[in-house]
Amino acid sequence: MITTHEDLTPFNTFGIKVHAASFARFSSVSELRTLLHGNAFKDLLILGGGSNVLFTKDVDALVLRNEIQGFEVQWEDNSFAYVKVGSGMVWHEFVLQCLELNLGGVENLSLIPGSVGASPMQNIGAYGVEIKDVFHSLEAYHIATGDIHTFDLDQCEFGYRESVFKRKLKGKYVIVAVTFRLSKHPKINSSYGAIDAELKKMGITQPSIQEISKAVIAIRSSKLPDPKVLGNAGSFFKNPVVDLEVMKKIKVTEPDVPNYPAEAGKCKLAAGWLIEKAGWKGFTEKTYGVHTLQALVLVNYGGSTGHEVYELSSRIIADVEMKFGVTLEREVNIL
Ligand code: FAD
Ligand code: EPU
Repeated sequence: MITTHEDLTPFNTFGIKVHAASFARFSSVSELRTLLHGNAFKDLLILGGGSNVLFTKDVDALVLRNEIQGFEVQWEDNSFAYVKVGSGMVWHEFVLQCLELNLGGVENLSLIPGSVGASPMQNIGAYGVEIKDVFHSLEAYHIATGDIHTFDLDQCEFGYRESVFKRKLKGKYVIVAVTFRLSKHPKINSSYGAIDAELKKMGITQPSIQEISKAVIAIRSSKLPDPKVLGNAGSFFKNPVVDLEVMKKIKVTEPDVPNYPAEAGKCKLAAGWLIEKAGWKGFTEKTYGVHTLQALVLVNYGGSTGHEVYELSSRIIADVEMKFGVTLEREVNIL
């Protein structure tokens, strides 16, 4: 059923109040096909969990909320199980099902909000793992023709918070299913960030994937705001990849600047650190601001407009650029 002037507040984790010209939900490819080909519409927006969008105005489009479910082991060999997942499944529920079956590979990605179908859009990542590491293929509905096309790993052109679907194929496909290659003999990946320290605190020396998941959940819950309590979309900016020269210049006055390896001649800086050093951590104005525990996260304390949050992000970009000569890029999709 298509509704008009639908309030999108419950459908975006920032909790921004805007309206969609038309709105409907779909839970199968045939429902999607009927909606797309039975209706005239000016523009189309596919929404999963709405956890990586900032609405800055009403959406003059047909907004379709993806609710396609499904979790099926398609085939397996001695080492891997290939699991096909409906794109509307909640990402963390998918992770929990893998843990239940003792299939490894996504435990470090526990508790990331949103849907399975959005995970390839920006090649979601956390704690040393990105979905490209467990990705086999996906099926996507080609909006112009109604055909289903299959994309393998290379065709998705995954990068850091990037894929072909954010670039040259933007707006052309609806991802309807993703197949993951999960390990039956999981390798533990605990070296990143604070995982080892968290496991130590938990008294665990030889962690299982279930314990890695628990540790990741504990770390995330300690610094990232729960969108049910405080509006946000996770990291608002990407961590910038800069020339080594830029980092060395910052190091002169800030010898402890965190930096991570990147492609030759470059390194990745921590945007959260730059924003904190520039003095923005905990900054609050009217009903919005910068999270007190993680400067990479912008928050809506309730009642903010997307325009206000966007303006704040522009001020932060300008200030970080002035103080460190680094231009931050937004990670969140601005609509
Ligand atoms: P949405 O916000 O609904 O959509 C995002 C974009 O993808 C939109 O452009 C939308 O049109 C498009 N899209 C969605 N579904 C489809 C589809 N089926 N077909 C085609 N296009 C589609 N991200 C990380 O990578 N790592 C993290 O650690 C992380 N932590 C987060 C923590 C918090 C508290 C929050 C709020 C967010 C975090 N994020 C993180 C960002 C977010 O969770 C991911 O980007 C997630 O994949 C978004 O999923 P979604 O279903 O909510 O997408
Ligand atoms: N830092 C600060 N101040 C802050 C925040 C961070 O100094 O306010 C420093 C930390 O001390 C650390 C470094 O920055 O030295 C990195 O911080 P953290 O480990 O918290 O990770 P992040 O780089 O801020 C990235 C991802 C997150 C992901 C975590 C864990 C991006 C843009 N963000 O955050 O992803 O969960 O690593 O792997 O790459 C998201 O994309 O929405 C997201 C939350």
